[in-house]
Amino acid sequence: METVTVLGAGYVGLTTAACLAHLGHRVHAIDADAARVHRLQAGEIDLLEPGLPEMVRAHQQTGHLSFSTDPGSRIGGSDAVLLCLPTPARVDGSADLAAVRSWLPHLRRHLSPGRRIILKSTVPPGTQRQLVTVLDRPDIAMISNPEFLREGHAIHDWLNPDRIVIGADEPESTRYLSSLYTSLDAPVVETDPTSAELIKYAANTFLALKITYANTLAELCEHIGANITDVRTGIGHDPRIGNTYLDAGPGWGGPCLPKDVRALVSTGTRTTTDLGLLHALLETNAYHQRRIVTLVEQLLPRPLTGARVAVLGLAFKAATNDLRDSPALHIANLLAARRAHVTAYDPAIDASATPTAGQLTLTESATAAVAGADVVLVLTEWPEFAELPWHHLARDMRGDVVLDTRGKLDRTLLRGAGLHLRTLGEPFSEIAAARTA
Ligand code: UDX
Repeated sequence: METVTVLGAGYVGLTTAACLAHLGHRVHAIDADAARVHRLQAGEIDLLEPGLPEMVRAHQQTGHLSFSTDPGSRIGGSDAVLLCLPTPARVDGSADLAAVRSWLPHLRRHLSPGRRIILKSTVPPGTQRQLVTVLDRPDIAMISNPEFLREGHAIHDWLNPDRIVIGADEPESTRYLSSLYTSLDAPVVETDPTSAELIKYAANTFLALKITYANTLAELCEHIGANITDVRTGIGHDPRIGNTYLDAGPGWGGPCLPKDVRALVSTGTRTTTDLGLLHALLETNAYHQRRIVTLVEQLLPRPLTGARVAVLGLAFKAATNDLRDSPALHIANLLAARRAHVTAYDPAIDASATPTAGQLTLTESATAAVAGADVVLVLTEWPEFAELPWHHLARDMRGDVVLDTRGKLDRTLLRGAGLHLRTLGEPFSEIAAARTA
């Protein structure tokens, strides 16, 4: 059993702390946000993450997991300190390392000789080397060990990693991490710290590229009369391509992919690397978000200004209440900026407690959002949207079209309710046919 300190009790930090306690270690998590720490000490977890609250509370009760704001008392007695601190994007897209750097004086002062710092925050390639110089403690190993968990699947992904990436200069570091992650069964990629840091950015950017490629194909399908679902299946059977991250949708977003693509661009800009591909990726993702507004406009029988648009889903994906860089929220705000009346519902968002930019009206139910709508726009793939009483909802709508950007609704069910279902990547002539009939 190791005694470890986790710095940062956000998404990655809290999951890491709970899972390390689950593996049998004694874990203390420190966060500078006193209000967050008080809530955690009381067993209150703000994040919507399946299984995490239960795991945190269980290990608080066994005494294996504790929280505080005080770095001094715990760091000194730790075998290792894991840095799980935020690295938000600056205005120019580069990663802001202020939170990571702010802990270096504490680590320099309190860490005992021979201990380790494990860098789990997503940082630009070359950061570990810079931090080692600033830390100026040659007796401490700093290991780059990026985390690949997805929101909504955090515990599963942490305990069942596809790979464990270890970027270190000392072979002893791999032995140490193998003992820390003792029961995790995954291929280990041993490399230098800079390559480990690049692996994280490269992985997220590749996922973004796949999704954007699917979105581009979906638009092409609409124009040439092909079907994206079949095309996706057809290419996905090729193991060199794989069948994940090819779901067409309203563009990719969330707290990681946009930030990491921009940070990789920023890293490349400091070199002579040709970044055309990545600039196109960012531009094309923004285009696919704007394209949804154009589609709404085309589906409406009246001008967008003054039209009533019901938005279902605001979170950047299902199973989370995270609105950071959410394409759904962005698209809803674009519609509102065009002076559409937007009423929005998300099952994970508390309408009374959520301030949103722009002029959105948040509702407490899908029924309230859809009442009087000229068009319904599904932006987050919540499974419950497929289960809605569409017969009743249709009666309360002013229009008869549903644009499902996630492709999760049942066409037959909606047709039975008298609604036209428009999806991405499928030829759609129903509306035109209906309007000219
Ligand atoms: C991502 C990475 O998957 C994870 O490995 C990393 O550690 C953190 O960033 P997450 O931010 O939780 O995880 O989101 P993810 O589930 O990957 O989805 C990212 C975005 O892509 C979302 O907006 C999602 O809706 C979109 N997406 C995903 C698609 O539009 N189509 C797909 O096929 C898959």
